[in-house]
Amino acid sequence: MYDAGKILIGLVIFLLLLTFPFWFSLGQASYESPDLQLPEDKEECIEDTEWMRKNHMQLLDDWRDTVVREGKSIYIGKGGKKYDMSLQKTCMDCHTSKEEFCDKCHNTASVDPYCWDCHVAPEEVANGQQ
Ligand code: HEC
Ligand code: HEC
Ligand code: HEC
Repeated sequence: MYDAGKILIGLVIFLLLLTFPFWFSLGQASYESPDLQLPEDKEECIEDTEWMRKNHMQLLDDWRDTVVREGKSIYIGKGGKKYDMSLQKTCMDCHTSKEEFCDKCHNTASVDPYCWDCHVAPEEVANGQQ
C-alpha cells in the first residue's frame, strides 16, 4: 500500500522546490532579474558587481560633481585600476549597449535617468546583437 502521508509531504516539498525561484525572488529587489548583456571581453566592473548594482547611481553622481567642479579626474577602482571619470568614455566603453544593459534594469525598476538628454549613448547595433 502507498503511504498517503509520505506522498503528500513529498509532493509539498516538490512543489516548494519547483516554485522556489518564484517566491525566493519576491523577497529581492526586482531589478536583479533581467537578463543583461554583459561585456564579453571584460571580466570585471570598476568595483564589485554587487556594489555596483547598489551604488552606481551615487558613483555617477560623485563623478559628475568631481569632474564638473574640479576638472577631469581619475578614479581608482578595484585593484587600484585607474579610470577616467566619464559616463560615455568609461562606463559605456565596456557597457556598449544602453538598451541591453542600463535600460533593461531601469525599465524593470521603473526609473528613467535623464542623463541621455545630454550624454550620448553608444550607437545601438541592429537588433541588439553584437
Ligand atoms: C572595464 C569595463 C567596465 C567598466 C569601465 C564599467 N563596467 Fe560595469 N561591469 C563590467 C562587467 C564585466 C560587469 C559584470 C561583472 C560580473 O559579471 O560580475 C559589470 C557589471 C556592472 C553592473 C552590475 C550588473 C549586474 O549584473 O547586476 C552595473 C550596475 C554596472 N556594471 C554599471 C557600470 C557603470 C555605471 C559604470 C561606469 C561608472 C561601469 N559599470 C563601468 C565592466 C565594466
Ligand atoms: C542591475 C540593474 C541596473 C543596471 C544594470 C543599471 N542600473 Fe542604473 N539604476 C538601477 C536602479 C534599480 C536604479 C534606481 C535606484 C534607486 O532606487 O534610487 C538606478 C538608478 C540609476 C541612476 C539614478 C537615476 C535616478 O533617477 O535616480 C542613474 C544615473 C543610473 N542608474 C545610471 C545607470 C547607467 C548609466 C547604467 C548603464 C551603464 C545603469 N544605470 C545600469 C539599476 C540598474
Ligand atoms: C543638461 C544636460 C546634462 C544632463 C541632463 C546630464 N549631464 Fe552629465 N554632464 C553634462 C555636461 C555639460 C558635463 C560636462 C562635460 C565635461 O566637462 O566633459 C557633464 C559631465 C558629466 C560627468 C563627468 C564627465 C563625463 O564625461 O561623463 C558625468 C559622470 C556625468 N555628467 C553624469 C551624468 C549623469 C549620471 C546624468 C544623469 C543622472 C547626467 N550626467 C545628466 C550635461 C548633462
